[in-house]
Amino acid sequence: MEMKRIAVLPGDGIGPEVMQVALKILDAVQSKYNVCFDYRHALVGGAAWNDYGSHLPEETLKICRESDAILFGSVGGPVREQDTDKWRGVEVHSLLGLRKAFELYANLRPAKLYPALAFASPLRSDISQKGFDILVVRELTGGIYFGQPKGRRGSGDAETAFDTMLYSRAEIRRIAKVAFEVAQKRRRKVTSVDKANVLTTMVFWRQVVEETAREYPDVEYEPMYVDNAAMQLTKNPQQFDVMLCGNMFGDILSDEAAALTGSLGMLPSASIGMGKFGMYEPGGGSAPDIAGQGIANPIAQILSAAMLLRYSFGMIAATEDIEHAVETVLNDGYRTADIWQKGNRKVGTAEMGDQILKRLES
Ligand code: IPM
Ligand code: MG
Repeated sequence: MEMKRIAVLPGDGIGPEVMQVALKILDAVQSKYNVCFDYRHALVGGAAWNDYGSHLPEETLKICRESDAILFGSVGGPVREQDTDKWRGVEVHSLLGLRKAFELYANLRPAKLYPALAFASPLRSDISQKGFDILVVRELTGGIYFGQPKGRRGSGDAETAFDTMLYSRAEIRRIAKVAFEVAQKRRRKVTSVDKANVLTTMVFWRQVVEETAREYPDVEYEPMYVDNAAMQLTKNPQQFDVMLCGNMFGDILSDEAAALTGSLGMLPSASIGMGKFGMYEPGGGSAPDIAGQGIANPIAQILSAAMLLRYSFGMIAATEDIEHAVETVLNDGYRTADIWQKGNRKVGTAEMGDQILKRLES
């Protein structure tokens, strides 16, 4: 039997409780698809601080290095404790640290409006009723988040702060290729988001993406300014299939697209690099306010595990199996508090998991 190693990093807040449910789903996949998962648990974020005095200890990195993929929960602490050593910079240290350490340059963030959840979308109902299925492909290890130099100098009124937006041709090309290749497996359209009317970096971005687009004549290519893209998302989200973005624009637009689905607790994400190795995490965050209550929605974590099976292990049938089970449970009316509506059956974290499990095993 094939053995695959998964580094399991539950992190903080609701991370551990939704992770527990996702692992149950993976266990069911093991028996159904005759594979063997070797889970290696490791600490990250605030959860690592007490033992290691670091948000991303070397031991955790080592476990990740020895694994085939990382299943990540979430990191972050309560708002009122944000300015303590334990929590200061926790997201940047853990997430940006892992992305950079493994050169996970491509971030895939699906934003799919489930018909059963259209009521939760902030969009006007005539727009949300049509549904949408968008994949934001965000460049994750370059751009203004990582560009050097960055810093502060001077003092008083003359004090300045600066960051550098910088992209190389190789960086743009490799992320553009990811976007065109996933689009080939979807609805064959790439909208590349830029600000080529103002920024030199983005003129270059548009030029390199255009060059790359010519290698994919079967995929429709369209450039769009970021301000327009933000607006088009709310007016006509159906026009988008794959949205290709640099690091900062992808950060912003992926949150916007996620919010339009009405259910942050539903959205998974994948961060991948050159090979099959990747890191998979829910989009929603650690939600410390509801941690430990057993009410968090485990679906984002479950769908992240499904993305892991797809992109790192190539287990497409198992992925679709999980996605189908999730959709069936929603159609059957089972809802955690975040996506609950009158007339639905309200369930907690564990029961939502069990309902999905039941359909997966049938
Ligand atoms: C995200 C987050 C991170 C980012 C932060 C927490 C560093 O917003 O994953 O989108 O900006 O990438
Ligand atoms: Mg973000």
